[in-house]
Amino acid sequence: MSYGMHPDATAVIAHLSDTHLLAGGALLGGQVDTTAHLRETAARLRVAAADADVLVVSGDVADLGEPDAYRVARDLLVPVADGLGIPIVWTAGNHDERPAMRQALALPGESLAPIDSVIEVNGLRLVALDSSLPGWHHGGFDEGQAAWLAGVLADAPPLGSVLVMHHPPLPYRTRLMRLLEFRDEQRLAEVLDGADVRAILSGHLHINGSGTFAEIPVILAGATSYADDLAGPPPAMHGIDATQSFNLIEVYADAIAHSVVPALPSPSRETVPAELAESVAALSPAERLDRFSRKPA
Ligand SMILES: [Fe+2]
Ligand SMILES: [Fe+2]
Repeated sequence: MSYGMHPDATAVIAHLSDTHLLAGGALLGGQVDTTAHLRETAARLRVAAADADVLVVSGDVADLGEPDAYRVARDLLVPVADGLGIPIVWTAGNHDERPAMRQALALPGESLAPIDSVIEVNGLRLVALDSSLPGWHHGGFDEGQAAWLAGVLADAPPLGSVLVMHHPPLPYRTRLMRLLEFRDEQRLAEVLDGADVRAILSGHLHINGSGTFAEIPVILAGATSYADDLAGPPPAMHGIDATQSFNLIEVYADAIAHSVVPALPSPSRETVPAELAESVAALSPAERLDRFSRKPA
């Protein structure tokens, strides 16, 4: 149905990150109910991501790598994806433990190997690159992964590729987080040179943000667990049980757009009543523009 200059997106990605689940529903830091937050997020995903083609989870699924935490993630998110008829791309973060994550989520590969994967949806290729380094919180990737990535990116599907990696290859705002950055930018730039990677989706920083790496847009999903408050007085870092979010990435042949969606409900009102939206839908394209865009004389 024509509403404007652009058709509906060719591929839609629902992207969430940093769920930081704990076994037994334990509160993170004794305060934050990350399990309840993911339950709310899952309910809102069913509505906001109704047209999504894939669900991306970009790491720090568990806070302590406990098997039970991954089972919670599976039990809350797999029914959403199954209900929408879409696959889930799981990516490991620095808080994850590969063997437990792989086993609970039934991910292929050897127990300790990087959780790398590739799928294609609607002509768009999604490549998950495991940027976690066992035993460390900073990120990177090895030569074997680089060779694998170069092979995956050797040809280009119609919509190109989107790379998913927990650690964003960007300069980080806070000094302490710079210690936990992605340390193999040079190697990554060499692999991506000439490849048709149209965006990089990351998490890790617990903020909404964006930037560029080798002229490729980097889009961060804010966490569903807690957010980093950049206005908290330094040198401490301050997590807040507020502003949790997930992203919707719309991919067109010639454009990419992203929207930040609140992960938790807030008081709301209908800024456009349903009756008005339904009446607009019933009009012709020209009438629609006149009804909804024209200012009163
Ligand atoms: Fe995190
Ligand atoms: Fe992280």
